[in-house]
Amino acid sequence: MAGPKLPSFSFLVFLFVFALFCSDLVSSGLHIPLWNSGGSYGEDEGDIGFDPTKVTQVSWRPRAFIYKGFLTPEECDHLIKLGKVNLEKSMVADNESGKSVNSNVRTSSGSFLSRRQDAIVARIEKRIAAWTFLPEENGETIQILNYKVGQKYDAHFDYFHDKTNQQLGGHRMATALMYLADVAKGGETVFPNAEGKHLQPKDDGTWSDCAKNGLAVKPMKGDTLLFFSCHLNATTDPLSLHASCPVIEGEKWSATRWIHLRSFQRPTTAKEDNNPKDMTECGDYNVLCSHWASRGECQKNVAYMIGTADVPGYCRKSCHACSPTSKFAA
Ligand SMILES: *[C@@H]1O[C@H](CO)[C@@H](O)[C@H](O)[C@H]1NC(C)=O
Ligand SMILES: *[C@@H]1O[C@H](CO)[C@@H](O)[C@H](O)[C@H]1NC(C)=O
Repeated sequence: MAGPKLPSFSFLVFLFVFALFCSDLVSSGLHIPLWNSGGSYGEDEGDIGFDPTKVTQVSWRPRAFIYKGFLTPEECDHLIKLGKVNLEKSMVADNESGKSVNSNVRTSSGSFLSRRQDAIVARIEKRIAAWTFLPEENGETIQILNYKVGQKYDAHFDYFHDKTNQQLGGHRMATALMYLADVAKGGETVFPNAEGKHLQPKDDGTWSDCAKNGLAVKPMKGDTLLFFSCHLNATTDPLSLHASCPVIEGEKWSATRWIHLRSFQRPTTAKEDNNPKDMTECGDYNVLCSHWASRGECQKNVAYMIGTADVPGYCRKSCHACSPTSKFAA
């Protein structure tokens, strides 16, 4: 009879590498979301209630996905309560000047929350980032919208036509549209240009006529529609044209998170982000540069942080890759 076998050498190597990997995760403070929590939230702040199995694709052109029960009923009610505090007539951006103007194209009322306004809003913002793979900082603050009977938003793009509204963060590339209440009739989100719109069966009498003009999604409490207004190569996608159909019966409440191509947080100490003309000067072009540098990103992420003489990086100052007196040179 053989005695108890000692673990093989390769198994010990595996254990060692595994331990190294884990201690690295712990020390960098990474929280791994519990993907199958199914909406029950534990004490662990890393548990944001994200379950990718609840996502289905609505369309590929434009790219649109629906997540059933993305928000709990309590979260929906909470957002409505926050939104009711200061609802104002919704505006649209003027095509040329970019200024907010009143328009009968959009007749809802809305109010913007603040970033991480409270623990519930913060958790929702994190959940959106986890789902979309897009950083929280690229998101605008959540906007709560209310449509009463007859109110609507005619077909429009979420990306802007004017330059002013693109200065911070570039185009709106994705929209997470959270439905906070069921609507008895109407109020659908419709994509009139979507490929395959004719393939969607709509003969059960519960769709409004407006919804029959395209690929449509019914507002259902807790569900969230995510769609992309830009192609994968960051050019705008005209198929993302969409409308909010008039409410026929009931009332529509939704919450929108617009997500930009780049950070939407106004740099406070560094120069404006992403202005290639100025980037030849020795400087930091993102407020997080010194933080990233202290985390070793100058070595790990050379292309972004330092760049080359032809294409300077964003954080050359914090990486000590230039001196304020000479424009280039390390
Ligand atoms: C803005 O421009 C778009 C695209 O050219 C056009 O479809 C839309 O009607 C314009 N909106 C206004 C208010 O002029
Ligand atoms: C970007 O991608 C879209 C969709 O794949 C394509 O139609 C378009 O030509 C591309 N544009 C550029 C500049 O590569």
